[in-house]
Amino acid sequence: AFQVKVHSTGELINVSEDQTMFEALDQHGVFVAVSCESGVCGTCQTGVVSGTPDHRDVFLTEAERQQGNWVMPCCSRAKSKILELDL
Ligand code: FES
Repeated sequence: AFQVKVHSTGELINVSEDQTMFEALDQHGVFVAVSCESGVCGTCQTGVVSGTPDHRDVFLTEAERQQGNWVMPCCSRAKSKILELDL
């Protein structure tokens, strides 16, 4: 498990092993637009402020993965204990 941090409010939200970042954020009233929910479409693309994404999508390019400035919260996770998103 890891925590997602909402940059605009500083809120820290736990993301358990059996839920996505999108689901955890949604449960806390933080809206992320999604469509495919499987890492294909790009709708949920969200900026990363700090932390290291664990990319599980097939949308971002290899260069974008390595830069770590974007993440797809519908399916990707975090390698760091906290992933701060530009939300
Ligand atoms: Fe389609 Fe996340 S909702 S990539």
